[in-house]
Amino acid sequence: ETKPRTPVIWLHGLECTCCTESFIRSYHPLTKDVILSMISLAYDDTLMAAAGEQDHQALEDVMKKFYGNYILAVEGSPCLGEDGMFCLPGGKPFLEKLLHVAKGAKAIIAWGSCSSWGCINTAKPNPTKSVPITDVIKDKPIIRVPGCPPIPEVMTGVITYMLTYDRLPPVDAQLRPKMFYGQRNHDKCYRRAHFDAGQFVEKFDDMGAKLGYCLYKVGCKGPITYNSCSSIRWNDMLSWPVESGHPCIACSEDNFWDKGSFYAHE
Ligand code: SF4
Ligand code: SF4
Ligand code: F3S
Repeated sequence: ETKPRTPVIWLHGLECTCCTESFIRSYHPLTKDVILSMISLAYDDTLMAAAGEQDHQALEDVMKKFYGNYILAVEGSPCLGEDGMFCLPGGKPFLEKLLHVAKGAKAIIAWGSCSSWGCINTAKPNPTKSVPITDVIKDKPIIRVPGCPPIPEVMTGVITYMLTYDRLPPVDAQLRPKMFYGQRNHDKCYRRAHFDAGQFVEKFDDMGAKLGYCLYKVGCKGPITYNSCSSIRWNDMLSWPVESGHPCIACSEDNFWDKGSFYAHE
């Protein structure tokens, strides 16, 4: 109760804002508890009321006050094409804002696949020349929390770990927290017994689909997707794509847009 809440600055580059939509739906812990009791969300240009000059001033004030001690959370990717003109928060290229704020951060969280890998922004032909934040920030500890979007409880779980232990959680070779990305969706999929038995959905709406057979032959990427969807699931553990009858499209994996994730195997 006496410990000051950790300041967080949350920036938005090229993105769809669904990572934020996911974050505000965390049940364990509840997002309101994260925001009101655990962190101090000092700046977030999507969620805050200020705009224009007030927004700009708020960022400078917060940076000055907490320089060297805040966590920077980045949703979306920077773009390098046409001098960054495809993303101009406050009238300046997002890349400029990102590098400016990153200088004073003690650690950086790359929220979602846009920030972690580039996601749809880097899909061929990548007209904006978007890049993952790791391409432009080399001197800070960065953790990737990929997914399009990431699971809410994975997002708040990463924050909870960082606040509890005052360090980043252990990560794999791709900078993802092992505790949430250490297994493939395939490993804990409830349809796995059908995979092992060779019982597959051959096309959507066939008898196999009605019987809940494995979705591998209609494009499921669960066997190559490291994420917690099959264990933590979504919407307060209610369901996940495969449980809704849809293959996993590997939305948390690097460059999934260009890897034939949409219904066909390579
Ligand atoms: Fe939206 Fe996906 Fe990018 Fe998140 S990772 S901002 S959900 S496009
Ligand atoms: Fe694996 Fe997908 Fe089949 Fe589940 S539905 S067992 S994740 S291939
Ligand atoms: Fe994404 Fe696959 Fe989970 S598509 S939401 S990683 S089941």
